[in-house]
Amino acid sequence: MKDIRIAIDGPSGAGKSTVARRIAEELGIIYLDTGAMYRAVALKAIRLGIDTKDHESISRIMPDIDISVGYHNGIQSIYLDGEDVSSAIRTNEVSMGASNVSAFPEVRTRLVALQQEIASDNPVVMDGRDIGTKVLPDAGLKIFLTASAEERARRRYLELQEKGLLDKTFDELVAEIEERDHNDSTREHSPLKKAEDAVVIDTTGKTIDEVVAIIMGMAEKRFG
Ligand code: DC
Repeated sequence: MKDIRIAIDGPSGAGKSTVARRIAEELGIIYLDTGAMYRAVALKAIRLGIDTKDHESISRIMPDIDISVGYHNGIQSIYLDGEDVSSAIRTNEVSMGASNVSAFPEVRTRLVALQQEIASDNPVVMDGRDIGTKVLPDAGLKIFLTASAEERARRRYLELQEKGLLDKTFDELVAEIEERDHNDSTREHSPLKKAEDAVVIDTTGKTIDEVVAIIMGMAEKRFG
């Protein structure tokens, strides 16, 4: 069990977090949502009135940001300067901000080190954009989850609606998803890219249960 490291990468809204959480639950290991860390940095900047595209200002505040994660009954909470910001990081403004700050090497270096430290102590399912390529290059199982932009926008629409946070039309969400895809996959440092040894799963038209079953089958073969 100690050697289980599962990397799940892919674009926004492909279903990574839901799937990763379920896999971790079934295997009885922790799930680390790395996007939450980039979101916490963006939230800090927004609260300070700093533009999340302002490289110099973001680099300047990085040394003073305290980010940590905690687990209660297997559920991850993310803390920013000691405050539980697990809900506050889920707004659309923070999503765009996280995509912006994640382009800066000072942000990535710091968060990747924290992610690697957590994985060195625990078997883990980790999701993000650079887990298979950079954070856990030796992970025993690497998955790259994709889905069409429309399908991902539809899921995001329903999620925001459910949380009462819907402030965009469907078309605006498609445009935003495409903008984040572009940002995340064209940035200079650790762009979103499939690891050579990752297995691609297109989740368009598949239920969560189907995707989980496919990955659990692979995990049993690799780690069982
Ligand atoms: O997975 P998410 O939507 O919560 O991620 C928010 C942003 O953070 C996303 O636009 C890209 C960035 N990110 C990253 O660059 N690397 C990661 N490992 C995770 C997220």
